[in-house]
Amino acid sequence: MQILIVGGGNMGLTYAQSFLRSHITSQENMMILEKSIDKAFSLAEKEIGTVYGNPKDCLPQADLVILAVKPQDYTTLFEQIKPLVQEQQVFLSIMAGVKIQSIQEGLGIKKVIRAMPNLPAQIGMGMTAFTASEEVTRIELVTVQNLLSTTGKTVYVENEDFIDAATAISGSGPAYVWYFMDAMMSAARGMGFSESEAELLVGQTFRGAIELYNKTDLSCQEWIDRVSSKGGTTEAAMKKMRQLEVHQDIVAGAKAALERAVELGKLGW
Ligand SMILES: NC(=O)c1ccc[n+]([C@@H]2O[C@H](COP(=O)([O-])OP(=O)(O)OC[C@H]3O[C@@H](n4cnc5c(N)ncnc54)[C@H](OP(=O)(O)O)[C@@H]3O)[C@@H](O)[C@H]2O)c1
Repeated sequence: MQILIVGGGNMGLTYAQSFLRSHITSQENMMILEKSIDKAFSLAEKEIGTVYGNPKDCLPQADLVILAVKPQDYTTLFEQIKPLVQEQQVFLSIMAGVKIQSIQEGLGIKKVIRAMPNLPAQIGMGMTAFTASEEVTRIELVTVQNLLSTTGKTVYVENEDFIDAATAISGSGPAYVWYFMDAMMSAARGMGFSESEAELLVGQTFRGAIELYNKTDLSCQEWIDRVSSKGGTTEAAMKKMRQLEVHQDIVAGAKAALERAVELGKLGW
């Protein structure tokens, strides 16, 4: 299978490297289309496949085309590539907010998979939600899922609306985690720890809590109950956070992200 990645930026490069690292494909089967000449030269040096500057030289050979350009660039791209696309080609789009229907209509094709990865994909710890148009066959879907899985975990969603929801949870989610970590680091510094001590204390606490959670069947609340002894320090912290409605604020933040994802989707770019 010939894979063409359109856009050799952060995500395009992440995918190319992840596919090759996992040996799911080889350099001979990888093509990258990149419009920036500087980036194209730098990509060519990385030995991740053949790098092209003109869609005519690569698009017709592709079985799978991965659309990894910024959403605001897709209409210009579609004008360039529409005359070259073929009905049997599968398109995988990771462009935020661009709907399957816009891709089908913009390119005059039917087989579209839409995925929403997140930043930890760069280190193989990503979370990707994906869905597909009904014309994508089961085999094509499994093939693409295997490719996406090289960057972390995946979840298939039936309804495209859940791509917006996944954008609000796992797409923007790393920022929520860093926000919480940052608050804890501020607290640590306020108690007299140095910058590096604060980073160590907080980073390892997050890592440990997540690993422990992943290794058991206990819910977050059950874990909180376990560590909150009556009259103790954790109970005091949890009481204060509940009073300040930190939990509800995080839910409200995620809902604002969902509303924005829906709004951006309606813009149609
Ligand atoms: N980064 C993330 O964590 C993340 C998460 C989820 C989804 N996404 C989605 O992933 C997509 C890519 O994001 P990114 O961060 O990788 O962007 P990026 O670093 O800007 O990469 C996009 C690349 O595509 C190139 N490009 C633009 N138009 C092109 C064309 N017509 N032909 C060939 N190449 C073209 C750009 O070149 P120029 O620089 O010269 O314009 C750039 O090198 C976006 O749609 C974003 O919504 C990203």
